[in-house]
Amino acid sequence: MLRKSLLLSIGFGMLFGGGVSLAEAQSGSVPTQIVDALNKVWGVHPGFRANHAKGIVGQGTFKASADAASLSKAAIFSGDTIPVTIRFSDSGGLPNVPDGSKLAVPHGLAIKFRLKDGSETDMVINSLKFFPVGTGEDFRDLLLAIAASPPNAPQPTKLALFVKTHPRVPLASASVHQPDSLADEQYNGVDAFVFVDKNGKKQAFRYIAAPEKLVHISDEEAAKKSPNYLFDEIATRVAKAPVKFHLQAQLAAPGDVTKDPTIPWAATNKVVDLGVLTIDKIDSDSLAEQKKLIFLPGALIPGIEESDDPLIDARDGAYAVSFGRRSQ
Ligand code: HEM
Repeated sequence: MLRKSLLLSIGFGMLFGGGVSLAEAQSGSVPTQIVDALNKVWGVHPGFRANHAKGIVGQGTFKASADAASLSKAAIFSGDTIPVTIRFSDSGGLPNVPDGSKLAVPHGLAIKFRLKDGSETDMVINSLKFFPVGTGEDFRDLLLAIAASPPNAPQPTKLALFVKTHPRVPLASASVHQPDSLADEQYNGVDAFVFVDKNGKKQAFRYIAAPEKLVHISDEEAAKKSPNYLFDEIATRVAKAPVKFHLQAQLAAPGDVTKDPTIPWAATNKVVDLGVLTIDKIDSDSLAEQKKLIFLPGALIPGIEESDDPLIDARDGAYAVSFGRRSQ
């Protein structure tokens, strides 16, 4: 009961049988251990991402606000119209997960900004309000605890024991909902980054992609939808009219902790509008396109830096391992 209610809604609900010892999974580097642990939970699906395996690729533009340029010298905030490639995704490692399943949340939005000089920078965000754990090691151990806690596991399960010492896990899972459309969802950066302005002044922040309207539906309604309802709907919607998001930065207030992605900052913190993301095309061959693409949260350009949040490096490492395997 515990593992179901806690983990289904953060996309870790596909629970495979036990037999996973910590020693077994701890071979190799932490990023490799994480991808191995993701594979234990979801199974291996050659050619697909170890997490957020089901996705749809599109194209569009980003045009920054004047406020963005005053916060950061990054070239994406110049005010020029910047071409972007985006990928919406369902959570988890199942390439055919039904979009309305609890396993498919949190949904993801990855954005690649393509600058005139040929450089690129990425933003990789999802619909969780905050992350269940604060480090790569803890994420690996959470996955291993899930894999080792099948329905018939002896009580207390490894997962129940993990949750006891990591109380943010159930709260994170409760922070996500089912959207009626991938366009009507808010995506959150979760990890803190740091803007640097043209005078070298620094400001920590977290990204938000805010939809024009936020529409959530109940789990029951979502479960009744057709298996590809979100992906079919976004393709139809974009064919009729561009889909827009406001990219925003929630600024850290003095004293806010940047190294812990399990703790959201106060809703009263200042939020600055960074500009408009416009998605005007969904690619007809997303399956082939997404194989070639890699989005990395730590792929940054001057004007945007990593904070002391340890998840960013852990993610970069794991995404690279996953990309290496799916490209073979
Ligand atoms: C330790 C923490 C995390 C780990 C180990 C992790 C791991 C992964 C892995 C292995 C992939 C597949 C990458 C690929 O093959 O290209 C992935 C994809 C993704 N992750 Fe994470 N993740 C973590 C945290 C997060 C957080 C905090 C967010 C958002 C706030 C997030 C959002 C996404 C999205 C949107 C994708 C799909 C990217 C795409 O479309 O290519 N992840 N994650």
